[in-house]
Amino acid sequence: MSSVEEIKANLKALNAEYAKIKTLPENERKSFGEELNKKREKLQQELQQALDAADSENVTPIDITAPAAPNSEIPTIKKGSKHPLMTELNHVLDIYSHMGFNVMEAQQLDDEFHMFESLNFPEGHPARDGYDTFRTAEGFIPPAHTSTMQHRALKHYKKDLENGGKIAVVIPGRVFRNEDVDATHEHTFYQCEGIFVSQGTTMGQMLGVLKNFFEAYYGQNLNIKTQPGYFPFTEPSVELLIEKPKSLGGKGDGWLEMLGCGMIHPNVLKMAGIDPEKYQGFAWGGGIDRLVMLKYGLTDVRYFESGKLDFLEEF
Ligand code: DAH
Repeated sequence: MSSVEEIKANLKALNAEYAKIKTLPENERKSFGEELNKKREKLQQELQQALDAADSENVTPIDITAPAAPNSEIPTIKKGSKHPLMTELNHVLDIYSHMGFNVMEAQQLDDEFHMFESLNFPEGHPARDGYDTFRTAEGFIPPAHTSTMQHRALKHYKKDLENGGKIAVVIPGRVFRNEDVDATHEHTFYQCEGIFVSQGTTMGQMLGVLKNFFEAYYGQNLNIKTQPGYFPFTEPSVELLIEKPKSLGGKGDGWLEMLGCGMIHPNVLKMAGIDPEKYQGFAWGGGIDRLVMLKYGLTDVRYFESGKLDFLEEF
C-alpha cells in the first residue's frame, strides 16, 4: 500500500487537474469532471486506510500492572474520596432504614406553598421571617429546611395509611439560608427530615426513635432531654438535646441542641388529605453538618463547603 505522504501528493496533483476543465470543449467537460471525482474518491479512501494502519502501528503496548519507573514522567494520580458529609449521610440513612423508614429525596428548588403554606405558615405569619429564605428572580425558593418535603411525602405515602399501614419516611436534603456566615452558621448545609404517621402515635414513640437514632450514630448510650420550641407545623413543638458524651469531649454538663421536632399539626395533615381525628404523627428535622462536627470534634462548619483538600484528605 502507498504511504500516507504518497497518497497526499497524488491527491494534490489530482486537484490541480480540475483547473483543466475550463480549457476543454463544452461537451467533454462533464465526463472529464466525473472521471476526476471517481479518482479523488478512491484516493481519499486509500488515504483513510493508510492513516488507520499508521495509527495502529504507533500503539506501543504497556503493562498496566508494572510499577511506575522512578522519576518517571507519568504524574502520580491522587485518588479522590467521598465527601465526609456524604459518607455520614449514608450512615444516617442506614440507621433509619434499619428502623423501617423509607428514604425520599428532597429537591433544591422549591416554592412558596411547600416552604410555607403547606406547613401552616399562612401569608403574613411572623415565623416566615425566621427562615432567612433566598429567592430567585422568578420567585422560587431554595429550601431553607427539608420540611418543605413534608406535604409531598404525606401525600405520596397516604395510600399506605389507607391500606392499614403507617407512613415512615426520612428525607435528606441540601438547604440554604440567607444569613451571616461564621464558625457555626453556613448559608448552605444539609438536613434530614423524618415523618411518622399512624393511629395512636405518641410523643413517647418519637423520643424513642430519636434516642435510638443518636445512640446508633454515636455508638453509645446517651442522655436526651427536650426544651420547648416553636414551629407552626408541629403542636406541641420541642427541641431535642443530647448530653455531650465524655468520649466526644463532654465534661458531663454540656447539652447540645440537635434538632427540632413535635407532633404534626392537624392542619398539615388535613392539607395533605389525612384525617387528623383518625391519624396522628410526629416529625423532626436536624442538621447533618452539626451531627458530623460533634462526631469528629470539628469546630468550624465552613470547612464542609470550602473544598479545601487538606480538610477533605483527613477523612
Ligand atoms: N424545619 C425545622 C428547622 O429547620 C426543624 C423541624 C422542626 C423539622 C420540627 C420538623 C419539625 O419536621 O417537626 O428549623
